[in-house]
Formats: sequence, C-alpha cells, structure tokens
Amino acid sequence: DQPQDLQERPPVVTIMGHVDHGKTTLLDAIRSTNVVAGEAGGITQHIGAYQVEIKGKKITFLDTPGHAAFTTMRARGAQITDITILVVAADDGVMPQTVEAISHAKAANVPIIVAVNKIDKENANLDRIKQELTEYGLVAEEWGGETIFCPLSAKQRKGIEELLEYILLVAEVQELKANPNKRARGTVIEAELDKGKGPVARVLVQHGTLKIGDPIVVGAAFGRVRAMVNDKGRRIKEAGPSTPIEITGLNDVPQAGDQFMVFEDEKKARAIGEVRASKLRESERRANTRVSLDDLFQ
Ligand code: GTP
Ligand code: NA
Ligand code: MG
Repeated sequence: DQPQDLQERPPVVTIMGHVDHGKTTLLDAIRSTNVVAGEAGGITQHIGAYQVEIKGKKITFLDTPGHAAFTTMRARGAQITDITILVVAADDGVMPQTVEAISHAKAANVPIIVAVNKIDKENANLDRIKQELTEYGLVAEEWGGETIFCPLSAKQRKGIEELLEYILLVAEVQELKANPNKRARGTVIEAELDKGKGPVARVLVQHGTLKIGDPIVVGAAFGRVRAMVNDKGRRIKEAGPSTPIEITGLNDVPQAGDQFMVFEDEKKARAIGEVRASKLRESERRANTRVSLDDLFQ
C-alpha cells in the first residue's frame, strides 16, 4: 500500500483481567452506552465482537475473553488487537490473571489502558491499584508514568464514556490505518455449523473491503460470500477495515484464528481451498487430531 491509499480505521480492543474483576459487566456497559433507544431489542445476536461509536468515531470490541483471543490468535501469528483494556477490581487489586494479562499485552506490544473497576465499592482503593501496578511497569500518568488509569464502575455505568475517550486518544497516537480499496483480508473470530445457514464464520475484516459475492478462502474453507450480517444484526453489502461481521456461503467450517482472503475469481479460491483442505485432512488423519492450518502453512 502507498501512504496515500491508507485511511484511518477504528481501533480493535480486547478486555482482559482477573476472574470476576468485571470484564463481562464492562463489555455490557460499553455496549449499552451506545445503544440507540428502540434499536432492535437493544442488541444483538452474538457475533463475537461489536462496534460502538463515540464522537463520530468507531471502536471495535472483541467479545471473546481477551486471554483466549490472545493465546489462540497470537499462537497463530494473527495480531488483531490494537489496544488492551486491563480490568482490575479496585477492591481486590492485582491478581495472577492480571499479571498474565499484562505479559500477554506486552509480548504482543499492545498498549494497555487500566480500567480500575468497582470504584463504587466501599473498600475500593484506586491508589493501591496504581501502586501495585507500578511493579509491573504500569505507572500512572499522574505519577509521572505513561499509563492511563480510568476509574469506573461497570455496574453503575460510570466512567464508561471517559474510557471510550481514552481509547480514542491512544488510537490516535497509534495512527491506525488500512487500505479499504482492495480485496479483503482478515481473521476468523469464531465459526460454527448452523443448521439453517450452513457454515457460519464471524470474522474481523482487517484490510480492504469485503463484499457480497466475493470469492473467498477462509482457512481451508472456500466459497462466495452469500450474506453478511453486522453486529447489529443487519444485512450489509460490504464491510471495511476493523468491521466485525458474520458471513455465510462457505463449503466448510473454518477455525478461530484462520485468516481469510478474497481472490479475483471463484476458480482460484476453490483451487486454493481444496489444496488446503486436503493437506489439512491428510495431516489430521496422520496426527489423529484436529490440526491448525498454520502447522501446515508457515
Ligand atoms: P469472569 O468472566 O468469570 O472472569 O468474570 P468477569 O471479569 O467477566 O466479571 P463479571 O463481569 O462477571 O463480574 C463479576 C462480579 O462483579 C459480578 O457479580 C458483577 O455484578 C460484579 N461487578 C462487576 N462490575 C462491578 C462494579 O463496577 N461494581 C460492583 N460493585 N460490582 C461489579
Ligand atoms: Na464472573
Ligand atoms: Mg466474564
């Protein structure tokens, strides 16, 4: 891509943190912050990711537990996260999975914003959290460091807008860009066989624009994009960079972390898909287990 081909794209954000520190509650709070009253039942069918909009800018959140997303995706070399929200309960402090989350993010070179959650609790202690995290190299800006700490209550829906604004701030510094004017590429978030729809893949478009009818290879599956549904459950005709969507039209169910790629014609997509599928089946037969495509195509 030439610099002039690149356009700003929304940041892709994952949420990590220790058990019960409030990841799910925070994801719900973020989602409901942006639901237009009366919009189809609030939200959504589950597509593993969703987008919110603040001040005219979009942010994509991956719904899958951050740790799982990081380990499967990273193990497979698929970097899909731009920013990590580290949730730490203000009444509990740094715990083993907090530390694990920090090392995941650092290894992937993904910036961390600390969401100090449960600030509504009587025994909440923001300074203690800041203190504890300095030991892991996360020093609050107001303490002379570079890490943003955002106190909030996911339960009471307080501090959510501030968090979203911090995300936009960090994204701005990152200058996240992609070329929307080319054949799409991206990553599978999750996939399954639907009784009615056949193979369904929830994917994140990372480069280019995916369109209905595009010949596509997804891992070892192939086909033409028959339908695309966005995170609001609406049918759409095309999806640009950082957009999470559900697609149908594949001949088989791909695996989470698989890459997808659009080809100029269906013949080529089929040829590549079939080669991959037969190699995959062959090695699965040999290993007598499910094999990741990356084991074959490094
Ligand atoms: P796991 O997915 O099991 O790791 O937990 P989680 O991190 O998703 O936490 P979850 O959102 O399920 O919240 C755990 C508990 O903390 C629930 O009982 C929530 O209601 C509560 N909780 C979450 N956020 C807040 C908050 O801001 N304040 C208070 N007081 N409670 C909260
Ligand atoms: Na929980
Ligand atoms: Mg949860």
